[in-house]
Parts: sequence; C-alpha cells; structure tokens
Amino acid sequence: MTGAHSHQPVLLDEVMDALKVQPEGYYIDATFGRGGHSAAILEQLNEQGRLLALDRDPRAIAYGREHFADEPRIEFEHINFNQVADVLAQRQLESNINGVLMDLGVSSPQLDDAGRGFSFMHNGPLDMRMDTTRGESASEWLARVELEELVTVLKRYGEEKFARRIAHGVIEARQQQPITETAQLVNIIEQAMPVKEKHKHPATRSFQAIRMHINQELQSIETGLEAMLGALKPGGRLAVISFHSIEDRLVKRFMKAKVTRPVLPKNLPVFDTDEDPPYRLVGKPRTASAQELENNPRSRSARLRVLERIR
Ligand SMILES: C[S@@+](CC[C@H](N)C(=O)[O-])C[C@H]1O[C@@H](n2cnc3c(N)ncnc32)[C@H](O)[C@@H]1O
Repeated sequence: MTGAHSHQPVLLDEVMDALKVQPEGYYIDATFGRGGHSAAILEQLNEQGRLLALDRDPRAIAYGREHFADEPRIEFEHINFNQVADVLAQRQLESNINGVLMDLGVSSPQLDDAGRGFSFMHNGPLDMRMDTTRGESASEWLARVELEELVTVLKRYGEEKFARRIAHGVIEARQQQPITETAQLVNIIEQAMPVKEKHKHPATRSFQAIRMHINQELQSIETGLEAMLGALKPGGRLAVISFHSIEDRLVKRFMKAKVTRPVLPKNLPVFDTDEDPPYRLVGKPRTASAQELENNPRSRSARLRVLERIR
C-alpha cells in the first residue's frame, strides 16, 4: 500500500512465523486497520481457508469491504474485538479458530487524519474515538470530567509526571471556552509543563492517556484476550502486538497467568495432567529487526507475544 494513508504492517514476518498459517484454516484478524496483516494471511490460505476481520473503527471496515470486495475468503465485522464470541456463535465457530492476530492501538491512518483528533501534530476536532458511531468524544469528556478523575487518567494511562498541573490547566481553560480542538489541548499541556522532555512532544503522554480512556482500551484488551482464547481450537495460536509498556504489561501478565499452574491446596487429590495448563508460550517476545526499524520508525516500540492452546 502506498500514499499518505498507508499502513505498513509491523512485525509482519514475525507474525506470519508465529501464526504458521494452515492453508485451509480459519483465522481472525481482530484489528484489521488497513489490512496489511490480513493480506499476508490471505496469501497463505487456499480456497477453503477463511479470515474474519474485525475493527471497531467503521472507516477501517468500510475500507476493507471496498478494497477486498473481490476476495470471497474474507468477512468483515464492525465490532469491538471483545464481542467476538457473539459473532463466532452466530457462525457456529466457537473453539474452531486456528489463529488470531491482535495488533493493538491506533493505526497510522487514524493518527494521520487530523479529523479524528488523535494527533497532537495536526489541528483538528478533539474526538479520539476509534468507533465514531458511539460513546463520548474527548472534547465532551474534558468538558465534564472532575479534576481527580483527570489526574488519575493522565497518571494511569500516560504515566504523566505533571498530571495534576495539566489537569488544573484543563479545568481553568474550559472556564474560558470549551476545549474542542486538538491544538487547544496541546497549548494547555505545553503551558502546564514546567520542563520539556528531550525528543518527546510534551503532549505525547496526555494524548495517549486520554485516547486510552475514551476508548476504554485496556478494558477491551483484557476482555478481548479472554474472548480470543475461547475462540481457539487446540493447536491454535494467539499473536498479540502491543505498542507501549502499559499494554505490554497487561498482555504479558495475561499470558503468564494462562501458562502457570494454579496453586492448589496440598491435600487435594489431583492428577498430574489436570494441573497442566492447556496453554504454552511460543518463543520469546519479538521486536522489530534493525531493517524494519529503519524502514518504519513506528515499529520501534512494537512487541509481539504468542500463546498456543495445547488442548
Ligand atoms: C495498529 S492498527 C492495526 C493495523 C493492521 N494490522 C494493518 O496491518 O493495517 C489497530 C486497529 O485496531 C483497531 N482496534 C483497536 N482496538 C480495538 C478493539 N477493541 N476492537 C476492535 N478493533 C480495535 C483500531 O481501530 C485500528 O484500526
């Protein structure tokens, strides 16, 4: 794909390595975006193989339906991936999936389109919703949020040291006029920051935090991971790419818990095999190669973790 709205799929070789696509298998791309990974999966499927592509962003799904219109092996659903169980039940596909990819976070087209409000680099309406058909925009939320809640969000999802100063800045500014554009928020953050970090835009952390809150991203990931595991058949694999440490910590903890034997009371009669968790971790977490880093700087913080359902 080329052009300003292209999306270079990250860790593509590593993902394909992890999924080990079986030509007649049934796969899920839980975060279709612009379909970079989907296209690579389709290449390895034969005529019986199927791909279910999900995205909560209606534009991603519209793009997919248009650009993959001649591709009978792919189906699209505009849903939050944590709702996948309903979609699989309708298709009688529970526990029948060979592999799932979750490429978390926002896509380049979402970031690059000023009209979506995700970017502190271009001015636009302060929206930040991935699913523009429901929920509250960042602007609406900032108009009503209380100081303490805003401080908590900026700290929890942005690890922002100056959370309280920024939150005060927001509350003061909105008394003058509503905060409806990204440039206004950038300005408030810049004014509130007593020191500037080198090589990092002062609004990076706050924009990430507000976006994660508006889209309830961690909550979706937590319930989504569980839902995707429920979809896998024995031998099926779940590949997850995270983009920052908060996401990665959650994925790591989730996967670790799935491969850890539960601690049982000593005097309980249990058979050995009962205790073995039905999952295993596949390899070590993977990050971008030097070559990928050079071609696509956005791959810098991407990290891939893979879990396999054994039985
Ligand atoms: C990093 S991009 C994926 C890019 C894609 N792999 C490609 O090659 O084009 C993440 C996508 O996941 C979507 N997304 C994020 N959270 C989601 C969720 N909870 N449910 C469904 N889609 C989600 C976003 O809307 C975005 O389009």
